Amino acid sequence: MCFILLFLPLSIALGQISYSVPEEMPKGSVVGNIAIDLGLDVKRLQSGKARIFTGESAEYVELSRERGVLLVKEKIDRELLCRQTTPCALHLQIILENPMELFRITVEITDINDNSPSFKHGEKRFEISESAVTGSKFVLEKAVDLDIGRNGIKNYSLKPTDNFVLKVENEADGNKKVEMILHKPLDREKEEEISLVLKAVDGGEPQMSGTVKIYVTVLDVNDNPPVFTQSVYKATIAENSQKGTTLTTVSASDADKGINGKISYALSSSIDSLSDIFQIKENGEVILVGEIDFEREKNYQIDIVATDSGGLSDSSKIIVDVIDVNDNDPVISIMSKSDFILEDSPHNTVIVMFSVTDPDFSNNGRVNCRISENIPFAIKTSSNDFYTLVTDSELDRETASEYNITVTCSDGGIPSLSSSVTLTLQISDVNDNAPVFERSSYEAYIVENNTPGVSIFTVTATDADWNQNARVSYILEDTSVNGVPISSYVSVSADSGVIHAVHSLDYEQIKDFYFHIKAQDGGSPPLSSNVTVKILIQDQNDNPPQVLYPVQTGGSMVAEMVPRSADVGYLVTKVVAVDVDSGQNAWLSYKLQKATDRALFEVGLQNGEIRTIRQVTDKDAVKQRLTVIVEDNGQPSRSATVIVNVAVADSFPEVLSEFTDFPHDKEYNDNLTFYLVLALAVVSFLFITCLVVIISVKIYRWRQSRILYHSSLPVIPYYPPRYSDTLGTGTLPHVYNYEVCRTTDSRKSDCKYGGAGSQNMLIMDPSSTGTMQRIQNEKRNGQRIFNRKHSSRFRFANQTPDIRQSANFHPRQRRVRRAQQRNGSHPCEGENRQGKPLQKDDALFFTFSDYFRKPN
Ligand SMILES: *[C@@H]1O[C@H](CO)[C@@H](O)[C@H](O)[C@H]1NC(C)=O
Ligand SMILES: *[C@@H]1O[C@H](CO)[C@@H](O)[C@H](O)[C@H]1NC(C)=O
Ligand SMILES: *[C@@H]1O[C@H](CO)[C@@H](O)[C@H](O)[C@H]1NC(C)=O
Repeated sequence: MCFILLFLPLSIALGQISYSVPEEMPKGSVVGNIAIDLGLDVKRLQSGKARIFTGESAEYVELSRERGVLLVKEKIDRELLCRQTTPCALHLQIILENPMELFRITVEITDINDNSPSFKHGEKRFEISESAVTGSKFVLEKAVDLDIGRNGIKNYSLKPTDNFVLKVENEADGNKKVEMILHKPLDREKEEEISLVLKAVDGGEPQMSGTVKIYVTVLDVNDNPPVFTQSVYKATIAENSQKGTTLTTVSASDADKGINGKISYALSSSIDSLSDIFQIKENGEVILVGEIDFEREKNYQIDIVATDSGGLSDSSKIIVDVIDVNDNDPVISIMSKSDFILEDSPHNTVIVMFSVTDPDFSNNGRVNCRISENIPFAIKTSSNDFYTLVTDSELDRETASEYNITVTCSDGGIPSLSSSVTLTLQISDVNDNAPVFERSSYEAYIVENNTPGVSIFTVTATDADWNQNARVSYILEDTSVNGVPISSYVSVSADSGVIHAVHSLDYEQIKDFYFHIKAQDGGSPPLSSNVTVKILIQDQNDNPPQVLYPVQTGGSMVAEMVPRSADVGYLVTKVVAVDVDSGQNAWLSYKLQKATDRALFEVGLQNGEIRTIRQVTDKDAVKQRLTVIVEDNGQPSRSATVIVNVAVADSFPEVLSEFTDFPHDKEYNDNLTFYLVLALAVVSFLFITCLVVIISVKIYRWRQSRILYHSSLPVIPYYPPRYSDTLGTGTLPHVYNYEVCRTTDSRKSDCKYGGAGSQNMLIMDPSSTGTMQRIQNEKRNGQRIFNRKHSSRFRFANQTPDIRQSANFHPRQRRVRRAQQRNGSHPCEGENRQGKPLQKDDALFFTFSDYFRKPN
């Protein structure tokens, strides 16, 4: 206080004193020493009862009379007291009494910085479009500071200053204009809310300040286009995917807000068709709405655009790769094909060329072809997709004449697809098979005396080839049998393989023969094979037994001698006979047919031995005549008879005497012959004479009748057609040499062989009436067989009954036969018609050359 007092400017005027005190002085603070300043004594003051007169003013100051000083009675607030008025002073009067004195005192109140700047509102809000241009001004609120002068508002500051700067302008009235200026454009997208602090400071010591908050809300403007997240999107989709499949989802972002940031997507393809395939949804999802085929389009480029509602847009593209699905079967196309192939085609002969395509990709389109197994073909691939089907091994039409070749091609997809074609290939025949006979050799039987031309047997050969190559013809290989060409025995039908006998076969002449038949096919060149055929001729009982002993002649006598002393079982003689047939047909049995005394002799059934069966007695006649029949065992059986003369006598003279009455002398024989010839001549003469007479009578009568009927036609004799006797077939020249050993007890060991010359003398049919029937049968077939058989003398003797029928004909008779044959009728037939069987006296001329053989 002392200090203040000392240094306060002190203005003392007469009667008027001024003091200056700062405001806010505490109570009791000394304002001024008036005693001194007024030059008054303290006593005076006390005596004068000095007091302060303030008028209306509140009592801020009081007077201390004891001390003579003015004191702060009440705290003084200049702002309250004076507001903005300056100077601010309290006007006082001190009044003294005794003398009354009046002193004016002015107390100036000086300002101290006791008030800070303040704003009316605590905050200030702005909404500024982000598009506001720089330099835009925004008026700010002024601050208020109750202090004055230096203590008043001195300056403002705004923080931060990123977008705005403060502009403070002093106005004429000393106030300041506070503005905020946009010096950098706003970006809502960067900073949507900006908060600033405006600070006002005063100039006092210490400086005081006040602040206000400024909130700037940046309003959005569509200043940002949408932006796709990727410049290119990639998607893959399998072909044949279902409609509605999502490929991908694209997205674009827009920094703007609200409606300015609302994005819509669209396909912006210039190719219309794309929009038929793809669609983009609002949320950016790209879906498939059409069909996708890898084989048509392997990838797509879809342009897309994103637009916000302000019309700003961005574009991007989607590259869609189509993934192949194995949805195409391989396609087989036949380029060339042969339907036929020769069976002898060499390996690797191309049959079919074909190509295979599969539009699928990679493995799905990689095709592999194969054919069914176990067929002689193979597939070869020459270049891509080209295949040939070739023969792989030998073909044989005979085992397989046709092939169904199935070619299957499958691709490498999973699952694999395949397709196939079936080709039918015919194998053409090549003549590669020779005819094959059913058997390696044949054996056939034929019964002798067969009909010429009869079929014996059939050979069959087959040929595995086809058609002409399998047409077998049969050819008789040229060989000879006993020097005779085989073709005169048999013939073969070329077509049927039937073997025919050319003529009648005779077992007694040939028992078997063999020949070769060749079967040849019709191929070119032809193939052939041969087979051996053996023909076995079977015997027929066509020969009767022939008695070799005793030798029989018509006119001779042979007698066996039996001594009267012969015992029972005495071997008289043995009949020896043979049969040229064989087997059963040659089994001979001997029986006694007739006998002078049946009780005396028996014939061994098997051996032909004639033995006595009882003791010979004196009563027995010397001449015994036995007729033995020899039969063979054939069916039917044939037989021969032999007459055995037995003389029962003890001595030869006895025999002679007994036999002399027989005209068996040679002379007698000659006489007999003579008489016989004579008789024959007489009979013939008589017969011819009668014939001439009869004919003469007949002619005479006929002439008589012709004259009566004025007819003079000559008589034409009737002759039958010419008949040839020289048939090539059927007559077998036959010479049989009987090498029979006749040693059994035979005193006649000499054989008589029938010479070839004797054939001419005697031709006869050995068969009896049965043979005659056969002749007639054959005759109906227009054939005639003369069997010129064994014409030996003893044979003739056996055949006496047959002679009548079939002995050789006299030349005259032959003429008759020729005449009859000219007539077309068979001689036998003709004879039958005339009812005149052939008479032996007509035909027979023979010699009786036998002789009587005496024993020993
Ligand atoms: C007011 O303050 C600003 C910066 O805050 C300054 O540049 C300026 O000079 C000051 N004015 C006075 C009168 O102090
Ligand atoms: C081949 O096919 C045809 C027709 O399907 C059939 O008639 C024939 O028998 C077949 N051939 C073979 C050898 O399988
Ligand atoms: C029959 O064929 C064989 C071979 O199969 C041959 O050796 C033979 O000479 C042939 N014979 C005839 C008579 O052709």
